[in-house]
Amino acid sequence: MSLFVTFEGPEGSGKSTQARLLYSYLHARGYPVVLVREPGGTRIGDLIRRIVLDLQHTEMADTTEMLLFSAARAQLVNQVIRPYLDQGGIVLCDRYADSTYAYQGYGLGRDMNELRTITAIATGGLLPDITIYLDLTADEGLERKRRKRQEQEQGRPSGALSLPSDLPRPHTDTRPVSLEWNRLDAREVAYHRRVAEGYGKLIAQEPERWRSFDARLPIEALAGRIAHALEPWIEHIQMIASAPEQP
Ligand SMILES: Nc1ncnc2c1ncn2[C@@H]1O[C@H](COP(=O)(O)OP(=O)(O)OP(=O)(O)O)[C@@H](O)[C@H]1O
Ligand SMILES: [Mg+2]
Repeated sequence: MSLFVTFEGPEGSGKSTQARLLYSYLHARGYPVVLVREPGGTRIGDLIRRIVLDLQHTEMADTTEMLLFSAARAQLVNQVIRPYLDQGGIVLCDRYADSTYAYQGYGLGRDMNELRTITAIATGGLLPDITIYLDLTADEGLERKRRKRQEQEQGRPSGALSLPSDLPRPHTDTRPVSLEWNRLDAREVAYHRRVAEGYGKLIAQEPERWRSFDARLPIEALAGRIAHALEPWIEHIQMIASAPEQP
């Protein structure tokens, strides 16, 4: 038995924060777990991330963007996710294919069937067992990021929580949760609202896969609820004594 958990939600909704906390919780309890993020999570994927999110790349065609996200995902699935799941591990992924449907589909208005076909090619059809949705309006998420960046620039502590900075291995994403402001963040508010509404439609299409959480709850309370919701799934995972090696 393996478990593939993805985190989705609008900008600034707390995906990276909660993914890290869940990783730490599971790792501390002796589960074989790996945490990766999209786009990225591999050496090649991290290079693609730099290209696709660079604020200076204003000339990037929507098709290029979509294919780059898919290329990074293909590398991640092949190099990390699939091998780790095949060994019975838990994979936590900070964004996955639903982000393509929400951002390039509902956000940019690209054809959904086309996106599904390309995603199937990139992932080999691999779907998450469960997707954690952090429910926040686009406006609140963007405002949260803006406020936190401002606090950081003024040298004030960003508040809420200090995350473990030296996370134990296996863990392919060792960077601190950064408040990056990237090419997609910089898009107009209307785009982000379409993305957030799009997530609502995706959830309605597949309610059994999604678990939605109020992202305005305090960080620790949210982490507790997410861990609790995953309990029935985690019971089936073998403890670290027979843990797979990091791919
Ligand atoms: N439940 C919460 N309540 C208040 N602030 C939060 C909460 N969760 C996260 N934050 C803060 O909001 C900011 C964004 O969090 P985080 O980076 O985890 O979001 P994200 O969804 O990963 O964002 P992005 O879409 O940019 O990747 C951080 O400063 C974080 O500390
Ligand atoms: Mg994040």
